[in-house]
Amino acid sequence: MSLVITGNPGVGKHTIAEKIAQRLGLVIFDINKIAKDAGLFEENQDTNDVDTEILEKIIAEKISENNLIIGHLAPYVLEKNQVKKMIILRRSPYDLIKVYKERRYPDEKIRENTGSEILGIISHDAISKFEEKTIQIDITGKTIQEAIEKVMVMISGNEGDEKVDWLDLVTKNNDLQKFFVD
Ligand SMILES: Nc1ncnc2c1ncn2[C@@H]1O[C@H](COP(=O)(O)OP(=O)(O)O)[C@@H](O)[C@H]1O
Ligand SMILES: [Mg+2]
Repeated sequence: MSLVITGNPGVGKHTIAEKIAQRLGLVIFDINKIAKDAGLFEENQDTNDVDTEILEKIIAEKISENNLIIGHLAPYVLEKNQVKKMIILRRSPYDLIKVYKERRYPDEKIRENTGSEILGIISHDAISKFEEKTIQIDITGKTIQEAIEKVMVMISGNEGDEKVDWLDLVTKNNDLQKFFVD
């Protein structure tokens, strides 16, 4: 069984996973890279436009116990018996916008990805499939170092999920239009 880090694009999966992998002596297994190498992504990585059934088979053949698996598709291409713990990283949509602008995502892709984080789609799907194996962690406002420490503490302890409700925040800020309307 493997340790898994998932969450929307831009939440910090790769940044955090590299350090965690070093500390725990694990080897990173990047689902996006595997999908790309297998020719399953068109040009658009970071989308869900991929045949998850084929990807699931390829991954099952390649993963081993010493892997730290990363990817926003993780909940859709892994089975519960392959997973020791699944960390779901969460990050404020206001911070994600900045990451996506730096990545020069087109407006539509920014809306799609911030919308997904606000509604908590990956989180919902992960928790309903992987249940007690999931640990939801909000890294908003943390430095990278602080985020790594928080993830390490939550992996080693038996902490439950953190509550995250961006929809409530965005509604209170009167920003629904900003995120969901052209
Ligand atoms: N805790 C953090 N605080 C501030 N910036 C962060 C943090 N973690 C990651 N970042 C930055 O956010 C951006 C996206 O991180 P990345 O690891 O590429 O995300 P992902 O792999 O989930 O797409 C990078 O520019 C990274 O330096
Ligand atoms: Mg990444």
